[in-house]
Amino acid sequence: MVQAMVTTPADKINYYDDKKHNYVDFWAGRDYEHESELMAIHKLLKNRHYKLAMDYGGGYGRLTPTITRYAEEVILVDPSVKQLNLAKKQLHGPAVSFVIQEKKDNVPAKDASIDLLVMIRVSHHLPDPGPVINEINRVLRPGGEALIEIANEAHFVNRLRYLRRFKAVPKEAVPIGVHANGKEDRTPFVNHNPLTIEQAFAELGLRRIGKLSVSNFRHSLFKQHIPMKVLLLGERMLQRPFSLINFGPSIFILFKKPEN
Ligand SMILES: C[S@@+](CC[C@H](N)C(=O)[O-])C[C@H]1O[C@@H](n2cnc3c(N)ncnc32)[C@H](O)[C@@H]1O
Repeated sequence: MVQAMVTTPADKINYYDDKKHNYVDFWAGRDYEHESELMAIHKLLKNRHYKLAMDYGGGYGRLTPTITRYAEEVILVDPSVKQLNLAKKQLHGPAVSFVIQEKKDNVPAKDASIDLLVMIRVSHHLPDPGPVINEINRVLRPGGEALIEIANEAHFVNRLRYLRRFKAVPKEAVPIGVHANGKEDRTPFVNHNPLTIEQAFAELGLRRIGKLSVSNFRHSLFKQHIPMKVLLLGERMLQRPFSLINFGPSIFILFKKPEN
C-alpha cells in the first residue's frame, strides 16, 4: 500500500489547530482555485441526490454548503477542534451536523450508512491513504459514492521535471514542502500518484464513474495576467479532457461502490 516517510505522532498538534496558522486566510487570493473546485463538484454531482453525505476532513466548512445542495443531510467530520468551531459558527440549520474525528484514519460512521462521502484537500495529509480508503469503503452503503480529491504528484509540470531526471513518477506518496527534508514531524504534507489511489479503490471493487482535472491554471503567471473569468472558462472546457492525462495539480474522482 501507499507509504511515505513522514508520520504524525499522536501527541503533536494538528496543523489546523495551531494558533499560528489560519486556514481561512489560506483562501485569500485563491478565488480561482475555490471556483474551480466548486465547478468540479457541480459537474460531478449534477442531477444526483443523496440522503446522507459526509464532508470528511471538511475543515471550517468551505465546501459543506455546496454539498448540502446534493444531500438531505451532511455530517462535517474533522480532527481539528478549531476548524469545527469555525464551521459551527458559520453553518446553521438542521441539515448539517458536526463530528470530531478522534482516531487517526478512522471515519466515524456506522458500516454502510453513508450515501456520499466527500474528501477534498485531505489526501495531502495521508502518507498512507490505504486505511482511510478501507474506512471509506466500510461506511459507504452499497451503491454509495465517494468524491475524492487527489493532490497530484503526476501533474504536467512535475512529469516534465521527472522526465528531465529520467525518472518515473513514484507510485508511493511523495513528501512535499518542509516535509520533503524529513525534518518536519507534524501534520504531514504529501502528493500522490493518482494511479495508485485509483488502484486502491479499484481493489475494493469501487468503480470510477467520473474524473476531472482541477485548478489547471493556478500558476501565478496565469493568475496575474489572465482575467479569472477567462481562466474559469478554460477550466470549464478542459477539466474533463485534461483529466485523461492527469494534467492539473488536483484530480477529482467520483467512485461508486457496487450494489450488493
Ligand atoms: C486543507 S484542509 C481541507 C478542508 C476542506 N476539505 C476544504 O477543502 O476546505 C484539510 C483538513 O483535513 C483535516 N485533516 C488533517 N489530517 C487529517 C486526517 N488524517 N484525516 C482526516 N482529516 C484530516 C484538517 O484538520 C483540515 O481541516
